[in-house]
Amino acid sequence: MSASPSPVVSSGSAVSVPTQADLLAFVRRTAADSELIDSLPLDPEGRTWVRLEGPGGSEAWLIGWPPGTGTGWHDHAESVGAFLTASGELKENSLAARLPTDGWKTLELTEDVDRERRLPTGQGRAFGRHHVHEVLNESTEHHAISVHAYYPPLPQIRRYSRSGPILRLEQVERPEDWQ
Ligand SMILES: [Fe+2]
Repeated sequence: MSASPSPVVSSGSAVSVPTQADLLAFVRRTAADSELIDSLPLDPEGRTWVRLEGPGGSEAWLIGWPPGTGTGWHDHAESVGAFLTASGELKENSLAARLPTDGWKTLELTEDVDRERRLPTGQGRAFGRHHVHEVLNESTEHHAISVHAYYPPLPQIRRYSRSGPILRLEQVERPEDWQ
């Protein structure tokens, strides 16, 4: 016997739950839409955002970064995500360490957990659950624009301060704080 209906069912559910690869493909496709990228209002005083419709119910954003701006250290809880530079260049500092999710205020990081990568125009990355990073536009002259997607839609963002190896939990933001 062949042609069981189950492949159809699993194929349908694969479409409805976007993977990291799906999100990366989405941000790449979206960044190539020059009309959309050019429509983002830019402000020399601070970052600008436009909410986008991501694939499969994911949360997506177009973000404009004036020179010298950044996110500060944060994570994305249980969501996986992807982002890609559509214009200019961004830098990502990240931690190659899984942090305890709850029950702490400060952590001392070991020396080998810091990672950095440059994301010039057209470069992006996907990331898994509990990814901790900060994203910066280190240019002194040029705006950067990027496209981001998260699935599931972000339930919370934890924000950290960093002093050398010491990471301190400063704030937990909920969707009402950024939507
Ligand atoms: Fe982030």
